[in-house]
Amino acid sequence: MIVFLLLLGTALALTVSYFGGMYNERYWRKRGVKFHEQNKFSGPFWEYMTKKVPFFQIFHDMYKEYPNEPVVGFGSFFSPSLYVKDKTNVQFVMQSPVFIDRGFEYNDGDQLADNILFMSGVRWKLMRQKMTPLFTASKLKNMFYIMDKSAQDFVEYLQNNPEKRIGNTFETLSTFCCAAIGAAVFGITSKSTFDSPFLVPTRGAFNPTLWSNIRFSINSLTPPLFKILKLKFFKEYEEFFIGAMKQVFRQREKEETKKHDFADICLSIQKSGTMRHDETGYTMEPTDELLAAQGFFFFTAGVEPAATGMFGALIEIGRHPEIQKKVQQEIDDVFSKYNGELSYDAIVEMEYLEKVLCESLRVYPPIGYLTRRCIEDTELPVGNIKLKKGTKVFTPIYEYHHDPQYFKDPEVFDPERFSEDAKQSMGVTYMPFGYGPRICIGARYARLQVKAGLAHVLHNFDVRTHVHKGGIKYGKDQVQVRMKNVEVEYIPRKIKST
Ligand code: HEM
Repeated sequence: MIVFLLLLGTALALTVSYFGGMYNERYWRKRGVKFHEQNKFSGPFWEYMTKKVPFFQIFHDMYKEYPNEPVVGFGSFFSPSLYVKDKTNVQFVMQSPVFIDRGFEYNDGDQLADNILFMSGVRWKLMRQKMTPLFTASKLKNMFYIMDKSAQDFVEYLQNNPEKRIGNTFETLSTFCCAAIGAAVFGITSKSTFDSPFLVPTRGAFNPTLWSNIRFSINSLTPPLFKILKLKFFKEYEEFFIGAMKQVFRQREKEETKKHDFADICLSIQKSGTMRHDETGYTMEPTDELLAAQGFFFFTAGVEPAATGMFGALIEIGRHPEIQKKVQQEIDDVFSKYNGELSYDAIVEMEYLEKVLCESLRVYPPIGYLTRRCIEDTELPVGNIKLKKGTKVFTPIYEYHHDPQYFKDPEVFDPERFSEDAKQSMGVTYMPFGYGPRICIGARYARLQVKAGLAHVLHNFDVRTHVHKGGIKYGKDQVQVRMKNVEVEYIPRKIKST
């Protein structure tokens, strides 16, 4: 009986996938769109589930396979999906209000998933409006002391723990980023915590385990099934994270002094009462849970992508002695000028460090590609491709950054590509933080955190990169670009100018 049911199930699955694949192919061909024939039913998701490849790599292969196509359709069960390659089309997608949704679904009760990254429509608009003030230049200037303090403590941590100076570079960097974002979200404590309990949820949240890969694929391939199965992304971290945030909020209510961190902003939002979107009248209550969900995502974004940003820069600095010398000279000079202290103004003066960071975010963008979903029927300008409401589109990041058409000799690390003028003209071909209305809200914060970390580290250590046999590889991740097979060694500096 069991064998019969198994055979029946397999036959049914094969039939559905055969006819589903035919449907997908016809759907895109009818619209004059090239169809990616590999796995016609489940497209890149099947490849991701069955091979040891990062998701961004599958798009990179498609990018190279169809050099002349403005877009490529692919199988994604019964929800038509499109890989948009052409620069003008990508620009259109990134900027048009028709593509304001990212296309992630989450279920009621998945409290930590109710964050800006996942939100859609007017709910997203209202939350983005409320959170934007946290990241203005003046707020960041006020917060800079927090990042600086964490970076100083990180240097001390490396000095006191020589075993941390070689091996597990990414993990060690994420302890710094966790301490820094932890202090920014919860307020600074007397000493940064490098064995923070928050590392577990932040690392776990987007960790590509078999189960999280299945959940990610179901979410992308068949959102209705995701809803029916009532799947949750972050349930296991709710009690701990929301509990911690509540504790901080209640403590802060009793305190008089302003700390200029996320907890302060949350309290002021709560004090103002119900949040209202003026144009539509849509309202939301700023509950502890809703605000904790925003803090949770800031935490995860502040740790993994920021650590990757720092790792990428150190890898390249550690294998280009001339760049290392130049960036250290600039850092030493600025430290000297500001009496050995790193202020917001001091970091802004480090122009070469800024170029090095821009270039390393080009070579190793921490997020490999972007997603959007159209909320109305629309038409892409190049190719006049008609898209139905609900179509999910995927756009390149890594692929553009490594395309010789946009960056000459893309595998060469050259910070001089990033003069102010050149940056302005790059548009969507350079977007480590995304583009348009849904661009990373924390980009300025992240740049400061990473640069503060790099400035203190390079002021105190030389770095040397060790690439293991086989060269730099990338982990099997859903959206991240995570470098493997490479380590950075920190060597205490003997001579520096301050
Ligand atoms: C180097 C570090 C970081 C990188 C490379 C990065 C990159 C990105 C990218 C590519 C997106 C998608 C943008 C788009 O769809 O156009 C994004 C979204 C977002 N990021 Fe970051 N991020 C970083 C750090 C941070 C930090 C530290 C925070 C918060 C403190 C943050 C908060 C967000 C939020 C809230 C969104 C969703 C924005 C929205 O949908 O409106 N990110 N980030």
